Amino acid sequence: MGFGRGKVILLGEHAVVHGCPAIAVGIERGVTAEAVTAERDLLRLSPWDLALGPNSNGYEPLERAFAAALAMYPSRPPLEVSAKVDLPAGAGLGCSAAIGVAVLDAIDEVLGVDRSRKALAAAALVWEKIFHGNPSGIDNTMSAIGGVALYRKGDELRPLHSNKPLHLVIGYSGEPSSTKEMVALVDRQLENDRERVTKAFAGIEVLVRNAKLAIEAGDHVALGQLLDLNHTLLSSLMLCTTKLDDMCQAARRAGALGAKMTGAGGGGCMFALAPKRDEALRLRDVLGEGSFVAEVTA
Ligand code: PMV
Repeated sequence: MGFGRGKVILLGEHAVVHGCPAIAVGIERGVTAEAVTAERDLLRLSPWDLALGPNSNGYEPLERAFAAALAMYPSRPPLEVSAKVDLPAGAGLGCSAAIGVAVLDAIDEVLGVDRSRKALAAAALVWEKIFHGNPSGIDNTMSAIGGVALYRKGDELRPLHSNKPLHLVIGYSGEPSSTKEMVALVDRQLENDRERVTKAFAGIEVLVRNAKLAIEAGDHVALGQLLDLNHTLLSSLMLCTTKLDDMCQAARRAGALGAKMTGAGGGGCMFALAPKRDEALRLRDVLGEGSFVAEVTA
């Protein structure tokens, strides 16, 4: 069975596209996939009830991504891959990367290709490029490898260590968002007002560096404050929505140590950091439908 996990960016999204570091965690929810030899190439996706073939010129990114994935295996029989997606799409949890990792992992398994999770992450970047144009690589890397890690484009992933688990509560705004469009929105702001955006990125970089220390020291109170500040800087880049802001406020009022939007923004998800597991379960009820708890160990 192939598996690609979802991810939550704790801090540093968007700035990471422009060379700053980010911290992300892999979560247990993700995508499972199974590949079998068949009469023709086919990708099935549930629960969306989708079945499509590979097409490098297709309108659907999934058709193009599937074609690009299959092209990595030059001599092979036709394959039918069935993927089960347990993540909201377009929600900032790295759904497209998790599908790519799971699909490649499943194909590797049926064809007897033996490669490390690190090599799998690198292969899945081909898939991500079709969806996101200029991905930083954080989604496919976290999806394949997991844990808690500091990521910088072009560098090795640096795992962070702490013996204190992070109790995260992930809330979905119900507003779909497009990573490509949100990355382009930041690009336009960078073109029109370089100084303001560069300052925001520099601020985010400082928060990421401090968050690394806070995670390693198990200081979740400090980490929570850094999350709140990162949320404010992302809002200043017009990436937040009223719904995401309201959810973060509600979580803070209900006792979260910090809360922020995660991923591309313009909709999608937020998360809150809870002091303990039982508090996380309570916050999940506050955040309502579609929210879930993820316990992550660094
Ligand atoms: O919303 P997601 O899961 O696609 O996360 C995107 C993170 C960005 O920093 C906005 C883009 C990237 O490629 O890193």
